[in-house]
This record gives sequence, structure tokens and C-alpha cells, in this order.
Amino acid sequence: MMNLVIFGPPGSGKGTQAEKIAKCYNLVSLSTGAILRQEINSKPPTPLGLQAKPYLDNGGLVPDELVVDILKKEMSKFPESTGFIFDGYPRTPRQAEALNTALAEVNQEIAATLVLEVDQKELITRLLKRGKNSGRSDDQSVTVIENRLNVYEKNTSPLIDYYRNLGKLKIVNGLGPIEEIYNRLKDEIDKLS
Ligand code: AP5
Repeated sequence: MMNLVIFGPPGSGKGTQAEKIAKCYNLVSLSTGAILRQEINSKPPTPLGLQAKPYLDNGGLVPDELVVDILKKEMSKFPESTGFIFDGYPRTPRQAEALNTALAEVNQEIAATLVLEVDQKELITRLLKRGKNSGRSDDQSVTVIENRLNVYEKNTSPLIDYYRNLGKLKIVNGLGPIEEIYNRLKDEIDKLS
């Protein structure tokens, strides 16, 4: 059983790498962003989707109580899982505490938080490129992308120190080909066992 957090600013490659890591280590990849987009894009949008949409459109954070609820519900769908990789969660100290509690209830904990480091210029380039055909409302304008990056700096990046203090932090260079970054992440994960 192994539980990982993949962490980093918008566009750092969390989703891309979480999918590959989940496959390799037989983990459930849990992306709160992907779940929120499903709720928004369902026809008709769900009540949760309607509540969350303005936050995603502006690049702000969806309120903790909604996201913590999603986390708990989603985790409870996989009672037999051999572990999770959390992508885009936690984003605030309160979310981090809620994750610890949810894992402790099943005698589990986070093994490591893997931080992808990518410079701001590359993040904006990646997100604008994806925005050309992804249909993601939050990839369409530099203003919204910059807001996402500012929100990350202000509200989310302090969790780096939180996980460092717990001795769980692994910082990985997120620049370069996807496969190379994946191998860097695997090197860190393999050192855990
Ligand atoms: P979320 O879906 O989590 O988005 P994000 O954090 O903004 O991250 P992205 O999905 O844009 O980037 P990523 O790091 O996953 O990189 P990816 O692999 O996709 O959240 C969206 C919104 O939902 C938030 O703004 C918030 O409103 C809400 N939300 C979600 N979770 C929440 C929470 N816990 N609390 C509150 N609100 C929450 O890659 C990006 C692009 O780059 C892709 O096109 C990819 O192909 C490309 N790429 C990847 N790797 C490379 C590489 N090495 N080289 C070149 N291109 C690459």
C-alpha cells in the first residue's frame, strides 16, 4: 500500500505523470480538478458543478468544504485499492489535514509528496498551447493562467514546507521530455520501498 501526492503549479505535469505512475504502481489516480470538470461538463451540470464553475473559470480555489467532500467520496469508492496518487489535492493546509485524517482512518499515510519544479515561462507556454484545443476554460487567457499561478504561490505552495517538515518532500525537475521526468519520479518512488 502506497499513497503519494503529486504536487506543483498549474501546467507542471501533475496529471500527465500521475496517470503513468498510477499505471506502473497500481495506484488509483485521484484528480480533484478532473472530477470538478466532469461535474461541470455533465449534461445538465450537477449542483456541485454549478457551484464550482465560477472558481474554475477564474482560476480560483473551490472552497475547502466542497473539495474535502469530493476527496472522501472518491476515496470511499476504492476500498480495495493498493494506494492512491493525489493530483491537484491538497491545495490548502485544511485540505492537507483532511487528507491525513482520511488516510489515518484506514491506517494509512502519505509516503511522499513529489513536487514538480517548472519555471513560470514554461508553465504559461504549456497551458496556452493546451488551451488551443482542450476546451478548458481556464487555459484560454493569460490573465486567468496568471491568476492560477498567483493562487498557487499564495495558497498552495506553503504546503511545500508543510511536507518538508514531515520529512515527506521529494523535489523533482519537471523540465524536459515527459519520459525523462517520469524516470526521475520513479527513481524517487523506488527509494521509498
Ligand atoms: P487542476 O485540474 O488540478 O489543474 P491545475 O493544477 O491548474 O493543473 P493542470 O491540470 O493545468 O496542470 P498539471 O500540472 O496537471 O499538468 P498537465 O499534466 O495537465 O485544477 C483546475 C481547477 O480546479 C483549479 O484552478 C481549481 O479551481 C479547481 N480545483 C482542483 N482541485 C482543487 C482543490 N484541491 N481545491 C480547490 N480547488 C481545486 O500538463 C499541462 C500541459 O502540459 C498538458 O498539455 C501536457 O500535455 C503538457 N505537458 C506535460 N508535461 C510536459 C512536458 N514535460 N513538456 C511539455 N509539455 C508537457
